[in-house]
Amino acid sequence: MKKFLVTIAALVAAASGAIADEGMWLPSLIGERIADMKAKGFELTAEDIYSVNQAALKDAIVLFGRGCTGELVSAEGLLLTNHHCGYGQIQYHSSVEHDYLTNGFWAMNRGEELPNPGLTVSFLQRMEDVTARVEAGETPEAIKAEAEEDGKFSASVESLYYNNKYYLFVYQVYRDIRLVGAPPSSIGKFGGDTDNWMWPRHTGDFSVFRIYADKDNQPADYSKDNVPYTPKRHFTISTKGAKEGDFTFVYGFPGSTREYVTSDFVDYTLNHSNPAKIHLRTLRLDIISAAQEADVATRIMYASKHANIANAWKKWQGESLGLARRNTVEKKQVYEARFEQWAAGTEYEGVLGSLHAKYAELLPYAVTRDYYNEAIYAIELMGFANRPKRMTDVSYKDYSPAIDKAIAKEMLREFGENVAPEFVPQWYADRLAEAGSVDAFVEWLFANSCLASKAAYVEAKAAGYDFAEDPAVKMRAAFDEVASEKVGKPYKSLNNEITALYKTYMRGQMVFEPERSFYPDANLTLRVAYGSVAGYEAADGVYHKPYTTLDGIIEKDNPEIYDYDIPQSLRDIYASKEYGRWGVELNGRYTIPVAFLAKNHTTGGNSGSPILNGRGELLGINFDRTWLSTMSDLDYDSDICRNISVDIRYVLFVIDKIGGAGYLLDEMTLN
Ligand code: ARG
Ligand code: GLU
Repeated sequence: MKKFLVTIAALVAAASGAIADEGMWLPSLIGERIADMKAKGFELTAEDIYSVNQAALKDAIVLFGRGCTGELVSAEGLLLTNHHCGYGQIQYHSSVEHDYLTNGFWAMNRGEELPNPGLTVSFLQRMEDVTARVEAGETPEAIKAEAEEDGKFSASVESLYYNNKYYLFVYQVYRDIRLVGAPPSSIGKFGGDTDNWMWPRHTGDFSVFRIYADKDNQPADYSKDNVPYTPKRHFTISTKGAKEGDFTFVYGFPGSTREYVTSDFVDYTLNHSNPAKIHLRTLRLDIISAAQEADVATRIMYASKHANIANAWKKWQGESLGLARRNTVEKKQVYEARFEQWAAGTEYEGVLGSLHAKYAELLPYAVTRDYYNEAIYAIELMGFANRPKRMTDVSYKDYSPAIDKAIAKEMLREFGENVAPEFVPQWYADRLAEAGSVDAFVEWLFANSCLASKAAYVEAKAAGYDFAEDPAVKMRAAFDEVASEKVGKPYKSLNNEITALYKTYMRGQMVFEPERSFYPDANLTLRVAYGSVAGYEAADGVYHKPYTTLDGIIEKDNPEIYDYDIPQSLRDIYASKEYGRWGVELNGRYTIPVAFLAKNHTTGGNSGSPILNGRGELLGINFDRTWLSTMSDLDYDSDICRNISVDIRYVLFVIDKIGGAGYLLDEMTLN
């Protein structure tokens, strides 16, 4: 009987085209998903999500900067995103006297809000299928130019489904965005790299900005005369939270996924690229960590670099574990065998064979490219050598030549051991032969380059030194030449052939599986993902609950460990249990909710995205996935993939009780 029920359920799911929880859907086509969403707890309409005729939830969402999402939470332009998305701005305003990274920052009135040159937020005005126009011969450039209306808007034409569809996206871009508040890093980055990509999680990963406009509510450069922007729509905030099983959706800008690639690409990721990149970053991180442990100044100096290197490093490890665990390569191979059988005699016959062959040709170039990017260009001196004219004393603020030299030795050794001689620049091969060893070459390089330390740079600059003669500049040029001519060119041309084949293969997959709903791969355009609040089985016999609380922060609290040293005010509030309006019964005790898990299919770029309940009310801010979820960029598994959000009640609690900026809540709409 049980077996029979499962079979029926599977059939029903297949017939309605539902792929449980997987997918990042185009808002303009969300009507196709509404029945499924409603069945799961969504209470609004497709027009509430996206409309060109009336204000919709899309009007309360922005692309924040160039790679995050943000959401409007007041009628006066107040915006929420992640702490790690606003990190650059918080750092920009920080100095020894005003260390906002460490202590947090709260504007106590509009006059104290801080402008951020270069920061923009983009509102999607409309999206439109322009496939027919492109196919009729109009160029994407012309379509884009027309939509921009002489600079009134910013537009882009994006390919979806490997050039089978083209969509026009039209944005209005605001450029006077001010910092309103940020918690101290001990809350906003609580757990640091140790907890990054992990559950249970206790990070208050949020920051607060405000959009300013001219007196007509239009975008304008920063001016003290600008006024808070009046959005067409802002989110109502739910202060009631959600519980396991409740419907949620995430509305934001996912960056990049590759769900429809062949087994070749997964094999490359799992067996070539990830292992090489992880190994190279492990070597770098070991050197940096050792230096940080030996010296407090170095710990601070390399904190941000360490975090950046470690973020992808940890993600790739989780992704590889997930891909291996799911046998994604083998699963794809089985699928491909079925596809090929089906494709015999159709226009799709042979496309997989051609893809396999092209991937085999691509492999040596792809792997070499990884070594260029993750070994050669990981040497900071190579970055300096790329822009000697733009170097200043300040470029050396967070630079240790000793660390870089140690890294250069390891990276060049790895490069030499793993990259075919034809891809090694002659200039370098000659110098290496002269020096006799990689270590001796690196010693020579750092001793002779005027870019290798601030002192050498300052002296050389004063003396009018011609940096074109610098050995590091020559080295960079030699590597760039090979990277571009011998690696980049063939790589690019093979990749173009592969993309062309994917156009056919993608179409073939859609014909092959007519019952399946295909969503376009993420490409930093606005998408809706939906799923329920859910824990997961982390290991045999180990169930991870979907909510964490303040009690867990207190358990992790340790003044001796940088990542876990919370503000005293948080300890005091916990001791007093005076949680005011924010206290709830959760996980069997009176506490404050902190973070929660749900099944939404998200990726990088979804950071800062609103996570909403069935009525479209704000439950929290998305900021991460669990480690074992990250293979969802290639292969989503609803049993294991979870997005991590900070609970909006924790956000409000921190603004109110820790930041002392409770006045900001007055302009929000709380429910
Ligand atoms: N893993 C999250 C993301 O991919 C957060 C990264 C920032 N936090 C950190 N500890 N490095 O962006
Ligand atoms: N932290 C990521 C971001 O900045 C989101 C995590 C993910 O990859 O899902 O976009």
